[in-house]
Amino acid sequence: MDYELEGKTVVVTGAAQGIGAEITTSLLNQGAYVIAIDLKNLNDSELEDKIEVSNHNTRFLNLNYQRGDASDVDRMKQVFDSYYGDNTISLDGLVNNVGLLGLDPERNLEQWDRHMNAHAKTAYVMTEVCYPLMRKGGSIVNMGSIELEMCAKNAVLYTAGKGAVLGLTIGYAVTLADKGIRVNMVSPGNVNTNTNVKQYQDDPKTKEVIDKFEFRTPMKRSVEPKEVANEVLFLLSNLSSGTTGQNRIVDCGYTKALWDNAWIKE
Ligand SMILES: NC(=O)c1ccc[n+]([C@@H]2O[C@H](COP(=O)([O-])OP(=O)(O)OC[C@H]3O[C@@H](n4cnc5c(N)ncnc54)[C@H](O)[C@@H]3O)[C@@H](O)[C@H]2O)c1
Repeated sequence: MDYELEGKTVVVTGAAQGIGAEITTSLLNQGAYVIAIDLKNLNDSELEDKIEVSNHNTRFLNLNYQRGDASDVDRMKQVFDSYYGDNTISLDGLVNNVGLLGLDPERNLEQWDRHMNAHAKTAYVMTEVCYPLMRKGGSIVNMGSIELEMCAKNAVLYTAGKGAVLGLTIGYAVTLADKGIRVNMVSPGNVNTNTNVKQYQDDPKTKEVIDKFEFRTPMKRSVEPKEVANEVLFLLSNLSSGTTGQNRIVDCGYTKALWDNAWIKE
């Protein structure tokens, strides 16, 4: 699929592993130039291997990997300072993918700050730093979750964090529309990232939960990272030029099923 992103410049946060690495790889494979931001070193990330495997050398040259905290406004300004200074870059896209997975059985203000910083502050800081550098026709995609509208027990702060990101999505969609910038959100169900898959393999209890989850899902499976990346690329591209302020769910139908079919005798 050609998303017509060749030569476009896109910033991706949380790019070292999981969904962020998949988005980054997909963008590079489309011929986009990616500024990838993560707390990790590049050589501690999944990214290097993925890119080497999929598309050696030339694509790798299109990757500008920056180690840093996406909620740290000074560090993020520093990443783009050279660009601000001599105006050599215009951005076409920003993917606010950073998030903090996990439950919060012991909620406290420290946990509140961790979740709000990871989900909402990163998206806020990156949007404020990047949108002045964006061309007309630019697109911002924020990463949500189905746990925005439904919540597992003791996932209060995760759901609250994603709620704040939805607020940013709607607020910036309306506010940046006259600059020709669109803002949308992608909300996955359970995703088969390497970390998740390893957890099912290592922990039978988690595997049992995921099996139940997948049985309850109309398509009887979890989402592949590539399926999330494809939705993000669509929203980054001009193919979605009439869409802004939306939350697009990629969950194999999980949130649309009222009940599983366990009671129906086949
Ligand atoms: N994995 C899933 O099943 C799933 C489901 C729904 C939504 N999501 C959302 O998708 C996004 C990515 O999920 P994932 O499973 O790939 O996550 P992950 O934990 O595997 O990867 C997150 C990456 O973000 C980086 N990171 C964390 N905080 C950062 C910060 N402040 N600045 C820069 N980098 C930072 C980490 O180093 C890591 O490389 C998250 O927003 C998550 O909430 C994931």
